[in-house]
Amino acid sequence: MAFSFPKDFLWGAASSAYQIEGAWNKDGKGMNCHDYYARQSEYAQHFAMGRPDICADFYHHYREDIDIMAQMHLKSFRFSIAWARLFPDNPDDLNPKGVDFYNDMFSYLNKKGIIPFVDLFHWDLPQWVLERGGPSSKEFIEWFEAYARVCYEKFGDKVKYWSTMNEPSYSIFGGYHAVNGIGPGTFPPFEEDLKKAFAACHNMNLAHMRAVRAFREMGCEGKIGTVIDAFPVYPYSLSDERDIYAAERKFDYYVAKWLDPILLGKYPEIIFDTYQDYMPEGFAEELQEAYEEIDFIGDNYYQPSYAQHSDEKSGFQECLDPELEEPGCGEAFVGMKKYPEGLYDILLLLHKRYHPKEIIVTENGMSMKRDENNLAVPTQIHDKQRIRYIRSHVMMLSRAIEAGVPVTGYYVWTLEDTYEHGVGFTYDYGLVGINYETMERIPRDSFKWYGEFIQANT
Ligand code: NOJ
Repeated sequence: MAFSFPKDFLWGAASSAYQIEGAWNKDGKGMNCHDYYARQSEYAQHFAMGRPDICADFYHHYREDIDIMAQMHLKSFRFSIAWARLFPDNPDDLNPKGVDFYNDMFSYLNKKGIIPFVDLFHWDLPQWVLERGGPSSKEFIEWFEAYARVCYEKFGDKVKYWSTMNEPSYSIFGGYHAVNGIGPGTFPPFEEDLKKAFAACHNMNLAHMRAVRAFREMGCEGKIGTVIDAFPVYPYSLSDERDIYAAERKFDYYVAKWLDPILLGKYPEIIFDTYQDYMPEGFAEELQEAYEEIDFIGDNYYQPSYAQHSDEKSGFQECLDPELEEPGCGEAFVGMKKYPEGLYDILLLLHKRYHPKEIIVTENGMSMKRDENNLAVPTQIHDKQRIRYIRSHVMMLSRAIEAGVPVTGYYVWTLEDTYEHGVGFTYDYGLVGINYETMERIPRDSFKWYGEFIQANT
């Protein structure tokens, strides 16, 4: 089957600072929340396989890695800035060496003709942010806006695609409430407090809007949007009205509590009828005042989800895939279900519900399990399954575009093997494998396939 993609489609690969950069305390970088908690033994179970202090050492290998991207004909590289590398200890003192690092890296990407797509925040809050109250404190909004302004000012000449945040459901909401059953609080500061969770969610939405407003006020060139993990929710039973309603409620709770505010300027009904008591006072008005339009939605798609009726006020409860009766089919990675059609469904749903100007698939990929006793050996170099995975999802993109959805980019997660939150270095997602002992970069077959695919489709 022939694919049809616009000529300037952003074919990319994604990664994030904390997951590959390493150099955790080099050249003035401050501690982020992960650096801090990974050093507290009572939280060790959240940081399986030790601390990502070095990772793939991208900090020292970025030129080599960008050369590898160029060999793959990559159009764009999605990456995040480590807030604690720019502001190590407080919101005021900028670390010039941090600025130099990102300036050099973005310049080198530009030199190689690869478009940088930059997330301001991908899960690695500076520890000083948490110590001063974290995202559940109102001051968070000011700190985030000030940080965003510095990023636009310092890197705006080289970066034209910006996203304010990545999957806040985990790092922001999940700091104060268990996500996917891991808890209390899946992410630092590992608390269980729904009031703080909803305050953090609301503050992050406002902080996003302030960062977008600053972008417009400063007359920055380029586009700004945000990255959410939006997935379709299917009813357990297709013939039970109550399950159908449960699926809508679950979507509103997990996805729309981020996207409705950002794209429609209001919270979904479930926030008012079920969680209002946890929300800060005056939240609805505050949101309306802060609302700013964005240029695109980024969606990280991995797997769909299911819901079943519940007599609880929320109206839904989690359930397993009705056909498999198990969380996943093991193909994508343990516990994740491979379901490319879900990408098509979510793209159509986002288009219909929000009419965004553009949708970019900012993450999609599959992992394989690495032997935790042998971190020098990356999983399968001849990774046919990953090629099949990417191919089948890209096919859905092409269908969604034909159906009229304005999809303008696709980023494979991930460029090279990364540290994976909660499971350490044992899940390889990379188009390029990493030998963590020698730091050798070993391109997988999927790397070659993706490079040829990009060439054939641009
Ligand atoms: C989403 C996150 O953005 C990324 O950090 C993570 O590694 C991937 N999902 C895979 O789990």
